[in-house]
Amino acid sequence: MTDPLHERDLARPALDLVAKAAGPYLEALPDLPVRDAAADVLLDRLGGPLPERGCGTLAGIEELIEVGTRAATHSSGPRFFHFVVGGSTPAAQAADWVTSLLDQAAGLWAASALATEAETIVLGWLKDLFALPDSYGAVLTPSATFANLTALACARHWWAERHGVDVTVDGLAGLPRMPVLAGGYVHPSNRKALQILGLGRDTLTVCARDDAGRVDIDAMERALIEIDGPAVIIASAGEVNTGDFDPIDALADLAERYGAWLHVDGAFGLFAGVSPRLAHLVSGVERANSVAADGHKWLNVPYESGFVFVRDPTILGRAFGAWNAPYLPGAGDTHLNYGALGPESSRRARALPIWATLRAYGRSGYRAMVERHNDLALRLGAIAEADPLLELLAPVRLCVVCFRYRPEGMADAEVDELNRRLGEQLQEDGRVYPGTTVYRGRTALRPALVNWRTTERDVDLLVDVVREIGARVADDIRAGR
Ligand SMILES: Cc1ncc(COP(=O)(O)O)c(C=O)c1O
Repeated sequence: MTDPLHERDLARPALDLVAKAAGPYLEALPDLPVRDAAADVLLDRLGGPLPERGCGTLAGIEELIEVGTRAATHSSGPRFFHFVVGGSTPAAQAADWVTSLLDQAAGLWAASALATEAETIVLGWLKDLFALPDSYGAVLTPSATFANLTALACARHWWAERHGVDVTVDGLAGLPRMPVLAGGYVHPSNRKALQILGLGRDTLTVCARDDAGRVDIDAMERALIEIDGPAVIIASAGEVNTGDFDPIDALADLAERYGAWLHVDGAFGLFAGVSPRLAHLVSGVERANSVAADGHKWLNVPYESGFVFVRDPTILGRAFGAWNAPYLPGAGDTHLNYGALGPESSRRARALPIWATLRAYGRSGYRAMVERHNDLALRLGAIAEADPLLELLAPVRLCVVCFRYRPEGMADAEVDELNRRLGEQLQEDGRVYPGTTVYRGRTALRPALVNWRTTERDVDLLVDVVREIGARVADDIRAGR
């Protein structure tokens, strides 16, 4: 039998093992392939039946380090451009270890005053960073999906109140369908949130004026006139294919004119507000009723980290609160309990990595990083535009570059097939990891540049590898292979 109590003296040696492995791993990270498919065989070592008798603390940790450092996708390195995945700044990563060390239960003040106070502090700093009014209510969430869910739960509460119903207490029965409108940029996580909230994933009315998804303001206005009652508008600050933005000010005008709730999904795009030269992209966000964003993307803190801000600071408590068990703090509790302000109860002290990274690098450090990524994206866009073998599919707005490999004279269907295979082969190759999408019916690459480690060297390697593998795939297609 291996009882953890008998291994209590091994806590420190176990952490020493991790610390010893961390140095070489982090030093190698910038040059490691993003993914080494050959290491997948190691994953078998994680399996087998539930051990009847454990292998002991040190053996278990040694095994995990060995498999983990080799078989992990090195997505926290500088050349994982797929999806929108950041890394962890040195301060955030170290603070995440501190978070594990302290193992705080961050839902209740009575369980952790440290985590609660730290959350209040970082939420204040984040409002300041994004130029949101200090009066807004806020809570940390595990992700932007959860931030959208939290915001839309508040919107649902507000909407039901206008129909004379406390949806938190009585549910949706008897209410009409909640009208939700958005442009075509809307991220699927908003649909997921609507689905979880019992509002229906496909009830969203999409007002788009083209196949890129740009919002049709006139169509949305016509829809709002027809609805003639409270509605919810979702604005996208940062679309995943191109990094483009909905015009938030124009949507805020509509929301004000028709008494609608405006939610802004700024999972990564909210960070445009950190740079004076990019802040125009999020102009109007301070007029929103709710704003969602991610920490584990452009803030470069470890997973799982997101945050939501709401204009009415009481609505989080009304949409989520009302503990009703005698062992939990009741209505008379004067302390803030973040577990009562969102969908989670027990939660990790995810404020600590946010605190550390903002303390370490400050507003100016984040401004420098966001502007560096924007410069790199513009550089990549310019290269794609200038190269006759590449085609830029949309203007570069922020940190996403949508382009494809396109040899002259090749038919459209073949170009799509080429880029599909190119995406697959880039992934197998592993030196760079841009990922593919379908944008306006065309298969394309859409690298997102949000990792603090990424430099010109990484972007140039991306271009070189795309040219190299693109040429090979083009030859294959021409040869009918
Ligand atoms: C605009 C937008 N909203 C929401 C999300 C969901 O974020 P998460 O995966 O952190 O839940 C993403 C993820 O890419 C996104 O880009």
